[in-house]
Amino acid sequence: MGDPIIQSKSPIMHEAALQALGIPGAYVPLHIRPEKLGDAVQAIRTLGFRGVNVTIPHKVAVMQYLDVLDESAVAVGAVNTIVNDNGVLTGYNTDGIGYVRSLKAEAISDLSGVKIMVIGAGGAARGIVAALLQEKPSSIIIANRSVDKAEDLATQCRSKGNVIGISMNEVAEMLSGVDVLINTTSVGMYPHMDETPIDPGLLREGMVVSDLIYNPLRTRLLLEGLERGCTIHGGLGMFVYQGAYALEYWTGKPAPTEIMRQTILDCLG
Ligand code: ATR
Repeated sequence: MGDPIIQSKSPIMHEAALQALGIPGAYVPLHIRPEKLGDAVQAIRTLGFRGVNVTIPHKVAVMQYLDVLDESAVAVGAVNTIVNDNGVLTGYNTDGIGYVRSLKAEAISDLSGVKIMVIGAGGAARGIVAALLQEKPSSIIIANRSVDKAEDLATQCRSKGNVIGISMNEVAEMLSGVDVLINTTSVGMYPHMDETPIDPGLLREGMVVSDLIYNPLRTRLLLEGLERGCTIHGGLGMFVYQGAYALEYWTGKPAPTEIMRQTILDCLG
């Protein structure tokens, strides 16, 4: 459910996954206007859908219509996945845990004790920071253009770990000792592919550089990191694994993640 929804690659990915699992199901895009969201959620019960993914702009507003909120949704303050158990609707957020699963599978298997810097303090950063804190990093530094938002997010997370908020001007000095750098902003996304959220000259050999953007698959930040001997991690894995968790909640079966990834790669051309 989203508004707009035509751009979503989720239907193609989930249809391929259902087929691979041999499950006779369908995953369809539902264009729901904000004023119809309550009716649409009631329709999940009426029509007996097993579940729904929720995307922009409904991720926060949908929470009021659900029966149960999983702690993943409470921590982030947003829902992207609904599971329907005989009319009882539970809201989850699989974005953050999907991101962390992909980061661990593709770039760094153990995040405990590592120092992380997150660029951006919006909705995406909120989900990712909450999920990263479960991995017990030594610290998380949140850098944002509007420093107030970075500080607010850090304050909200402080009971769960060592989190601080800084301005973009402080990135250079605070990057020393950072093991994992994560871009959660849209800087570098198609069609602004020559932009980077920080000065690429700050990237050091051995660092993990991660970008949530998956169009392009390799942003300029990642390409600059690659040139400097960094391990790079793009945003496609997050998209695949947020969907994988949702599918696993709905079906109880391990998601065919490689098929899901390949389907998106084929679709992106
Ligand atoms: P999302 O849900 O994708 O995180 P969002 O909540 O609108 O979207 O947050 C976007 C984030 O990207 C914010 O941290 C924003 O910085 P501000 O809080 O200062 O607006 C950041 N962002 C977006 N465009 C940016 C740009 N051109 N330069 C720096 N940061 C940018």
